Amino acid sequence: MSVDSVEVAPSAARNSTPARASDPPLPTAPEARWTVGSLVRAHRREFAIGSAFLVLSTTFAALIPQLIRGTTNAIVTARADDGMRIAVAMMVVAVLAAITRVASRIWIFNGGRNIEYRLRGEMLARLHTLGPAFFRGMSAGEVMSRATNDLGQVRLLVGFGALNIVNALVAYSVNLPLMFGRSWKLTLASLAPFPLFLVLTRFFAKPLFSRSRATQDAIGALSERVQQTLAGMRVVRAYQLEGPETKSFSKLSNESLEANLSLARLRGSLWPILGTSAAIAALIVLWYGGTLVRRGEATVGDILAFQGHIALVAWPTVALGYIVSILARGKASLERINQVLVAQPDVADESSGDSVVKSEDLRGGLRVEGLRYSVDGRALVDGVTFSVPAGGSLAIVGKTGSGKSVLAQLVTRMLPTPKGAVFIDGHDLCTVPLATLRANVCLAQQEAFLFSSTIARNIAFATGDPDLPDNVRRAKEAATEVQLAGEVATMGDGFDTIVGERGVQLSGGQKQRVSLARALLAAPKVLVLDDPLSAVDARTESLILDAIDRAAQGRTLLLVTHRIAAAARCDRVIVLDEGRVIEEGTPDELLRNGGLYARLAEHQRLEAELEAME
Ligand SMILES: Nc1ncnc2c1ncn2[C@@H]1O[C@H](COP(=O)(O)OP(=O)(O)O)[C@@H](O)[C@H]1O
Ligand SMILES: [Mg+2]
Repeated sequence: MSVDSVEVAPSAARNSTPARASDPPLPTAPEARWTVGSLVRAHRREFAIGSAFLVLSTTFAALIPQLIRGTTNAIVTARADDGMRIAVAMMVVAVLAAITRVASRIWIFNGGRNIEYRLRGEMLARLHTLGPAFFRGMSAGEVMSRATNDLGQVRLLVGFGALNIVNALVAYSVNLPLMFGRSWKLTLASLAPFPLFLVLTRFFAKPLFSRSRATQDAIGALSERVQQTLAGMRVVRAYQLEGPETKSFSKLSNESLEANLSLARLRGSLWPILGTSAAIAALIVLWYGGTLVRRGEATVGDILAFQGHIALVAWPTVALGYIVSILARGKASLERINQVLVAQPDVADESSGDSVVKSEDLRGGLRVEGLRYSVDGRALVDGVTFSVPAGGSLAIVGKTGSGKSVLAQLVTRMLPTPKGAVFIDGHDLCTVPLATLRANVCLAQQEAFLFSSTIARNIAFATGDPDLPDNVRRAKEAATEVQLAGEVATMGDGFDTIVGERGVQLSGGQKQRVSLARALLAAPKVLVLDDPLSAVDARTESLILDAIDRAAQGRTLLLVTHRIAAAARCDRVIVLDEGRVIEEGTPDELLRNGGLYARLAEHQRLEAELEAME
């Protein structure tokens, strides 16, 4: 065990990217942690039934050498009838052994698969709740590796591992008494090479595992590389990097080939060596058994029976050699899975009791009081105060980097909003159940994210069932509303056009409008739009603003924008600078004040005039 613990340490260290030193440690939920024991207990039915079949199958199998002894002795003493009867019995037993053997594997391996299924589901459910603080410490590739490689190791432990431990125990306790009962001398002699089996498999197991890990790593590095190159194809082509990219690909591909060959060489030499040592045990039985027969201490049948028994305990012994490694690896992998399972979301559901806020209670009035949010001691949002009545609209204006997007994420609880700072209809945002909050307060993020799917599905995604005909129809209406339908019609497959990985086939402005249509479709009571106009031309802008005006009917609107034309349509405006509100009022008031807002307005007016002259 000690060897294996050392052996897994480097890979565990390599895979866990340390969180940034300044990040406070995330809180954890120890009750979500699994141990091998608790996993097996949770699926004890499968394992119990499988083990019962295993006992049956091993017992049947152990009967066969005994029957062989019977037939042989009958043949030697020329009792052919007995021989026939025993041969029939042997066939029946062999069939029973085979059936129970299959059943035992089905039940135990199913236990392993069910555990894998359960852990995978729990991991995804947990990952859905975790926020940026978690993913800063664990990259997506790292999460994937835990959800695939590590999960596979755990399945190996609770499936293959459990099967072989039980199998070895049963094989020894069934076969050894039968052997000792016949001849303790022959038993001891034939078991003599067994420690060698264990030593040999232990000797092979370590390099075998590290080499198969190396092949996995190599294929991981290769696919990561390919994925990066394909995602950055435009950059690669623009800078003529095909040559260097191909070179680095062939280097990794070559490493993968080498790793696989090295594993194949080791595997190739393992089986002949194990086969030879099994043959040595058989030779001992023949040689030493022969002398015992001559001395009259054993029969010819005994010797053949011993050959059978030896074969029945040899494989479980070899398997035990591996199990030690599988146990250590599986445990290390389970620990790495636990790290995901126990991670606590930084935005957690804190609603409880009878007084939980329901959707019906919400009208959409927002009040923000002294909201402050800092990262690494730097205040990104600093003492922001404002309020918007239900159905009202507020523009949030400011230079790039002034904290508008952070503020938008705080009022929608996409970031860990501090308690006592943001209220919706008088309820602290932190006490509203997340499901209720998400259903009523919707943020269309500045960087539109598109799934690699069709345009229609990308918009209808907000409905929860993007394939429902009615939702597709509403998605198309929303696209018309945001001035996207015309452009979509010119694309090859219209709304069924696949937008490519992250929407590479769409322009920035098109992506923004898909994201906007998605938010309109969600029809929340509070709509927060983060700079929905940053990538559209002036004409489209005014059309979209009309759409936003219509969408703002009957709901509260927070419009983050750097465009004065957009801000001017809102009831009130706040101007942010370095996370602080530096101006506040109606658009007209701010224009008259001659502050940043007025300067921006003047600047944009001149820009528009210049554009008109061209
Ligand atoms: N998750 C974050 N962690 C640390 N700093 C952040 C984070 N998000 C944004 N910032 C920083 O906060 C400042 C405000 O960003 P942002 O709100 O995106 O500005 P903008 O007004 O352009 O939307 C920037 O200096 C940015 O670097
Ligand atoms: Mg922003």
